[in-house]
Amino acid sequence: MEYRQLGKSGLQVSVIGLGTNNFGRRVDAKGTDTVVSHALDVGINLVDTSNSYGGTLSEEYIGRALKGKRDRAIIATKVSSRMGDGPNQAGNSRQHIMTEVENSLRRLGTGYIDLYQIHFPDRNTPIDETLRALDDLVHQGKVRYIGCSNFTAWQVCEAIWTSQTLGVAPFISVQPAYSMLDRRVETELVPFCVQYGLGILPYYPLANGFLTGKYRRGEPVPEGTRLAENDRGMFTDKMFDLLEGLERFCAEREHTVLELAFAWLLANPGVSCVIAGATKAEQIVANSKAAGWRLTEDEMGEIDRLLTA
Ligand SMILES: NC(=O)c1ccc[n+]([C@@H]2O[C@H](COP(=O)([O-])OP(=O)(O)OC[C@H]3O[C@@H](n4cnc5c(N)ncnc54)[C@H](OP(=O)(O)O)[C@@H]3O)[C@@H](O)[C@H]2O)c1
Repeated sequence: MEYRQLGKSGLQVSVIGLGTNNFGRRVDAKGTDTVVSHALDVGINLVDTSNSYGGTLSEEYIGRALKGKRDRAIIATKVSSRMGDGPNQAGNSRQHIMTEVENSLRRLGTGYIDLYQIHFPDRNTPIDETLRALDDLVHQGKVRYIGCSNFTAWQVCEAIWTSQTLGVAPFISVQPAYSMLDRRVETELVPFCVQYGLGILPYYPLANGFLTGKYRRGEPVPEGTRLAENDRGMFTDKMFDLLEGLERFCAEREHTVLELAFAWLLANPGVSCVIAGATKAEQIVANSKAAGWRLTEDEMGEIDRLLTA
């Protein structure tokens, strides 16, 4: 497994991370145990969760799965989601963050969170309040590094500028949706992160499993898969044309489109670790192998042409 520095921090993260939004929903405690153990065994250290995944069960199952192995994992969790009906049970206020960090620590069965991420921007809370609360948690040792997710480039810029002005801990990472089929972040966010040294942790790298090749044009959708529940607008002729073009590119090089989905992200500037939601041990093995494929500049150009045709 290859490790990269997360942004400008000293933290080394595996280039493939474990996404866990299936845990507590489609994967039970035993399944979580198996997937987490396999991930650690192949060298994956970054485990990405949230206080809201699986209705809080994702953190709880991860905590159990990491018993006795805590030091092998970089736990990245998040706060912002609505956790109750009360007016202060959502968002990025000091009030909500201070309450939720304790809940996450308890569920995860740990004394510290490696990377605490703001899950979504909150228009009702000034960013300096959020950053000061996070800085306090860093000083208390409950959180080691901080990051954000689903922020636009100007919102990350505002946060970095504010933390510099206040002299408080800055975000070291961003977590946006990013894949070969969703490149919106390349306009503003990616160049910003490269310029200012923030690590990018793409989510939905497989476009919700579409880039695994398990969905075929005109064929029944495999049962029990994520897109069987809801196709999320992926089953169009345009998407299948793109997928089939990428599959031909991969077949010529004896690789799979799943491997390409990871290798392509990792060949892009600023990407530290690609978080993939695996539901089975075999998926972990396949995902970790993908990191070994280094795309050349010519190949990146060819993929660009396929994606923009
Ligand atoms: N910050 C945010 O707002 C946010 C939002 C979404 C996700 N995330 C994070 O990012 C992670 C990754 O996103 P994601 O899991 O939703 O999307 P994804 O990686 O694009 O797709 C995950 C789906 O791909 C399938 N899959 C994974 N590895 C596979 C393999 N080797 N072979 C075949 N199928 C495979 C699984 O499908 P089946 O279920 O069909 O087996 C899984 O449900 C999440 O787990 C979560 O930690 C963050």
